[in-house]
Amino acid sequence: QRPHATVLFIFGGSGDLNLRKLTPALYNLFIDKYLPESFSVVGIGRSNYTDESFRERLLEGVKDFSRRKDGPWDEFAPQISYLQMDGGDEAAYSKITDFVNTKKEEWGEDPNVLFYLAVAPQLVPGIATNLAKLPLCGDKTHVRIVVEKPFGHDLKTAQELNALLGGLFAEEQIYRIDHYLGKETVQNILALRFANSLFEPIWNRRYVEHIQITAAETVGLEGRGGYYEGSGALRDMIQNHLLQVLCMVATEPPISFEANEVRNKKVDVLNAIRRIQPDQVNNVAVRGQYGPGKVKDKEIPGYREEEGVDPNSATETFAAVKLFVDNWRWENVPFYLRTGKSMPEKTTVITVQFKPAPNYAFSAEATSTWQANRLIISIQPAMDIRLRFQAKRPGQTLAIDPVEMVFSYKTAYDGQEPEAYETLLLDAMTGDATLFMRADQVEAAWKVVTPIIEAWGSETPTDFPNYEPGSWGPQAAIDLIEKDGFEWTTK
Ligand code: BG6
Repeated sequence: QRPHATVLFIFGGSGDLNLRKLTPALYNLFIDKYLPESFSVVGIGRSNYTDESFRERLLEGVKDFSRRKDGPWDEFAPQISYLQMDGGDEAAYSKITDFVNTKKEEWGEDPNVLFYLAVAPQLVPGIATNLAKLPLCGDKTHVRIVVEKPFGHDLKTAQELNALLGGLFAEEQIYRIDHYLGKETVQNILALRFANSLFEPIWNRRYVEHIQITAAETVGLEGRGGYYEGSGALRDMIQNHLLQVLCMVATEPPISFEANEVRNKKVDVLNAIRRIQPDQVNNVAVRGQYGPGKVKDKEIPGYREEEGVDPNSATETFAAVKLFVDNWRWENVPFYLRTGKSMPEKTTVITVQFKPAPNYAFSAEATSTWQANRLIISIQPAMDIRLRFQAKRPGQTLAIDPVEMVFSYKTAYDGQEPEAYETLLLDAMTGDATLFMRADQVEAAWKVVTPIIEAWGSETPTDFPNYEPGSWGPQAAIDLIEKDGFEWTTK
């Protein structure tokens, strides 16, 4: 069933996010007939566009970034308009009301109205405040506001932002996006765990030795020095995406997939993460910054030489942390998280490492290549799940080797999985907040990383840059896991 008639306003309409992600996602939803029958998307910005020139600009984005490049663009394009206005100009907001009223008349029904704030974080409070003054925003059923990360710069600013938004809108109107939650493979974690009887019985401290989550990127800054310099890997990736993935892996079974039930369970995980003591930060968290070098044979400048970056920058482009989830299920099972820019490959992978089987019957020779069971959930770019187990090598001598059972989206399906933003935009239109962050989740996640932020903020790193581009980060990150007797793996 298609969502109710919708007008979607995108603040930052001429910006990168709309060009690369939002319009391509809407276009794919349109092709797949998921968009409402009555639908209108309005880009809002200060740049000077006509409807026509704005559509042409967006078409370039579709050609470059959409998973489908050809298709009925000419049928989709008439639903796009452009509204030139300054988000800081309160008087201009009447244009929004006028637009909605026109559509209401044209369609003969009260549409959903979505405000997507694809703007720099410092603009969010002003726009949200002006929007909330519009009488139409009092309609809690039809009007929603979608906010992009970052949600604050630390716990305090996140609380302030939540308090501000919460004072202007009802929580059920606020959709905080973490695009990792829209990824097919991330959502599939819940299916894998709770739609099968195989995995859940062993998904706990009795059988799981440790869990790893890696999100590596080959790219460096991509011209985002201005933003990244004030953020760093911990804030940019771990506080949100990686902790959300950890929640999916570690959560207790929800009793339903109703939004608040799922989010309650996830916030329980965040609240159970053991508080890192200030004097322990250096034992459980590692930061890194890449110097100049090569990634995949391409010369790249060091982070400190990038535009918009302080030549003595202390911002980390790599972070690794070891966490514990102190609850009945996960007591003393370490969770290792790492992320970095300028790494050898683009890959996001979860590894669930099981404890070794007791081995008293097989000879040492037979088991020389023996490896404990391991489940690898590959989020991207490969989308697959691999289960490693032991098998007998064919032949007359008894030898045991690790082999793999693989489920791959590419071979099982047609390789046309929706992009994260397709799922999230559709959910926002239908009013399903399951995959969006609630205020308490955001704050609980900040609490997890706060001791690290405080320790790193009070101590300037003396060894930066400390890793070569194209490597897996500083040696200390490798030591972090090896000192526990394990090793990082993405394969
Ligand atoms: C964003 C970060 O949230 O996620 C970026 O701000 C990062 O720095 C990006 O590159 C990674 O997303 P994905 O979907 O490519 O893994």
